[in-house]
Amino acid sequence: MNMEEKHKKIVEIVEQKLTCSAHNLDHVFRVYNLCLLLAKYEKDVDLEILIPAALLHDISRVEESQDKTGEIDHAVLGSVIAEDILRKLEYEEEKIEKIKHCIIAHRFRTGNEPNTIEAKILFDSDKLDVIGASGIARTFMLAGQFGQRLIANESLDEYLKCNAVENGRLKDVTKHTPFIEYEVKFKKIPDKLYTEKAKEIGKERLKFMDEYFIRLKLEIDGVK
Ligand SMILES: [Fe+2]
Ligand SMILES: [Fe+2]
Repeated sequence: MNMEEKHKKIVEIVEQKLTCSAHNLDHVFRVYNLCLLLAKYEKDVDLEILIPAALLHDISRVEESQDKTGEIDHAVLGSVIAEDILRKLEYEEEKIEKIKHCIIAHRFRTGNEPNTIEAKILFDSDKLDVIGASGIARTFMLAGQFGQRLIANESLDEYLKCNAVENGRLKDVTKHTPFIEYEVKFKKIPDKLYTEKAKEIGKERLKFMDEYFIRLKLEIDGVK
């Protein structure tokens, strides 16, 4: 099987795994496209590592969201599931290890820093997708899914006091809002990116988002 055929096979597996969660699947393809874009600006990127890592990075997203214990980390479980898929597709052991590193290190909370160029590109692409126009669309889709409001009643400080994060999850997701997500998470993203091109895109995307949320607040307050 050549590289292209292997990638096709991986796409089929990922599509099957994420069928019940359309936004996750769309996210995977946006991340894949961003990875290819960022790869053009870096030296010595191995696409045989980056492409399968991008396609497989959220393979365990559904398991994590269905797990009530909060113990499943989709980055960790995803790397184990990916290993099995990659071995069946006869990837070399060395490549499997490198792809697994990209998957484990793509998540903020896991505590595993990306230490290869492919892992850094995947991390950056995954984070870039939550900001900008696609970030806005995605956060409102999720807000709808969880019955959230646009802006919370209480101040941000009060919200954070009573809705702390436990095991990497919010105590009560229904009390969360896109506005809080923007204040506590999205604004910090450009500073956490690794590659120069991603930082540039991140700043531009955040600027667009800033304008949007300022305008949203003004409209909600009846000022505009
Ligand atoms: Fe993820
Ligand atoms: Fe992701």
